[in-house]
Amino acid sequence: MGRTPNICAGPFGALYSFYIERPWLTQAIGRALWGIDTSVLYDSMGLLAEIGDGSTVLDVPCGGGVAFRALPSGTDVCYVAIDIDERMLARARERALRRGLSRVEFVAGDMLALPFDDGVADLVLSYSGLHMVSDPERAVRELARCLKPGGRLVGTTFLAGGTRRARALLGISARRGHPRPPAREDVVRWLTDAGIVDAQVGPQPGFAAFGGRRAGHCTDLN
Ligand SMILES: C[S@@+](CC[C@H](N)C(=O)[O-])C[C@H]1O[C@@H](n2cnc3c(N)ncnc32)[C@H](O)[C@@H]1O
Repeated sequence: MGRTPNICAGPFGALYSFYIERPWLTQAIGRALWGIDTSVLYDSMGLLAEIGDGSTVLDVPCGGGVAFRALPSGTDVCYVAIDIDERMLARARERALRRGLSRVEFVAGDMLALPFDDGVADLVLSYSGLHMVSDPERAVRELARCLKPGGRLVGTTFLAGGTRRARALLGISARRGHPRPPAREDVVRWLTDAGIVDAQVGPQPGFAAFGGRRAGHCTDLN
């Protein structure tokens, strides 16, 4: 089987990185093209303001570093930004420099086989990556595996269904070899099967936030 195409590894990655940093523009594009509400992405990042000093955060896939906006400056956390594409990582590095975030680590890695030991993270962020990979269930297992017991998983994903236009666009994309986004109930099941408790996927059509907590005793993120 050939490698899953990564649309962000081409010129689209630069365009994506431009608009995702502008929530108003992302919202306009999301609504007009996909009929989705992208505010759930930015809203869910608020959790970063609650993380305690000494916490470990994995951000996978980090893309151009959109989640850095929610990281309070001066926070003493171990923040690791992971992406499979070096150009997206380079954009994330630039973004971190511009934001004065000198302590972010960057790792080239595949969310289907994360290069981390079990239970290293207090918080795992996974924004808009599940719909990019060939085996999103395995990606969910990897994200959950890296969490400490009680650690939080937060992310977003495109979902199957949505508007007629979205379904048509997804059909075109699938014919070009891109994965089809998962169904809401599949994401809930994958999270639960991976040991995530209080697994939730938002009710919004087409694009929603998901999350939960790894079973076990709690970390500082409570
Ligand atoms: C739509 S972007 C989302 C990036 C960022 N989280 C955001 O919300 O802007 C998807 C990202 O997934 C990355 N990606 C695709 N396949 C991947 C994989 N198997 N492992 C890690 N990253 C991957 C792409 O390079 C791209 O940066």
